[in-house]
Amino acid sequence: MGGDVLAVHLPPGEGPDRWYNVVADLPEPLPPPRDLEPGEPRLKMLPEVLLKECLRQENSDQRWIPIPPEIRDLYLQAGRPRPLFRARRLEKRLGTPARLYYKSEFYSPTGSHKVNTALAQAWYAAEAGFERLTTETGAGQWGTALSYAASLVGLKITVYWVRAVHDWKTDRRNFMRLFGAEVHASPSPETKTGRDLLKTDARHPGSLGIAVSEGLEDARGDEKAVYCLGSVLNHVLLHQTVIGLETKMQFEQIGEYPDVVISCLGGGSNFGGFALPFMPDAFHGKGPRFIAAQSEAAPNLQGTYEYDFADHAELTPQLKMYTLGHRKTMKPIRGDGLRYHAAAPILSLLRHLGYIDTVAYPADEKHVFERARTFVQSEGFLPAPESAYSVACAIDEALRCKETGERKTIAFNVSGHGFMDMEGYRSVLGL
Ligand SMILES: Cc1ncc(COP(=O)(O)O)c(C=O)c1O
Repeated sequence: MGGDVLAVHLPPGEGPDRWYNVVADLPEPLPPPRDLEPGEPRLKMLPEVLLKECLRQENSDQRWIPIPPEIRDLYLQAGRPRPLFRARRLEKRLGTPARLYYKSEFYSPTGSHKVNTALAQAWYAAEAGFERLTTETGAGQWGTALSYAASLVGLKITVYWVRAVHDWKTDRRNFMRLFGAEVHASPSPETKTGRDLLKTDARHPGSLGIAVSEGLEDARGDEKAVYCLGSVLNHVLLHQTVIGLETKMQFEQIGEYPDVVISCLGGGSNFGGFALPFMPDAFHGKGPRFIAAQSEAAPNLQGTYEYDFADHAELTPQLKMYTLGHRKTMKPIRGDGLRYHAAAPILSLLRHLGYIDTVAYPADEKHVFERARTFVQSEGFLPAPESAYSVACAIDEALRCKETGERKTIAFNVSGHGFMDMEGYRSVLGL
């Protein structure tokens, strides 16, 4: 099984032509968003701030949702389908009997999986006649992906970027600007949410929850603007299922099937996109084990399963999620895209039902970046700091197999590259 294959390719144009909506197959209904009672009704503002098509997908229980041909063209342009690699050199270096396979989302024009939903959302926004997008970003990967997508479909864009990362990723900031984006460190003086926080601390490091509030507030004040979210919501995970659908086809091509599926998880778009297409097998008792790799700085899947806000300023309805609390202070890390207080409702339900395990790595990130160094030296690809968590988790699992002698097949997703994150590697590894 698997033979000597080193890379599994799907021909251009032969990737999935529909997204997979796991909501149709969930063992229990997904708890719907709700309003906090008493309080300002927030559910009714959703159609005002979210794209109509995305909201339709958000509430859909249709198992397969066709990908419009124009979005399939954009996926082709962005280099889909992407190869699945067998990590033979890494296996050899570790001396493990496990077989390791990784999906290469780092082959992306802007550096990560985030383009999969950015292209879809930007295209829907242009179709709906909007002129400007607003958004949040943590690692900067989502902000760049949406700036790229906006540029391709001819829209303007404003990005609110968590200050703790904005300040050290100067080249990524310039990359966004090159696409025509207006970029603000968040909290920013542009919004009431930002101004209030800056009064308490002029150098406030920010958080994804705060940046979401700023993006929402901005879009609500301009009828030509629409807000796009880079993670958490059902439709975002839906668009990302192209990753797992391709991976499944690639495993089928070589007659393999994973025993373990691993990826990093911040809000959950990458983990969901990679893992959800394998989930129905798990519902039928035949599926792999799923492990989400997180940071001890934000181990949201180890929080409590309850209704909470998706943003700091409480502009969103409440979602049923594993959460640390929407105003929780979390120390910035180099893999800051993982520093979000809650996990996507779909993944939270699946964790609640026992389908997803989680591991949280120490916030000094030494273990994670050392594992990434091992990966770079054997496979040659530089993971984004967030993706280094997937790599670390896969290597740890492979080393466990070395102890037990198990020949497990381990699949992991390298959600992005780290070419613009070298300062993070330097500061943690002392290069
Ligand atoms: C490369 C990369 N992977 C993973 C993540 C985590 O986000 P999510 O859980 O939505 O995939 C981020 C977030 O910025 C990222 O940049």
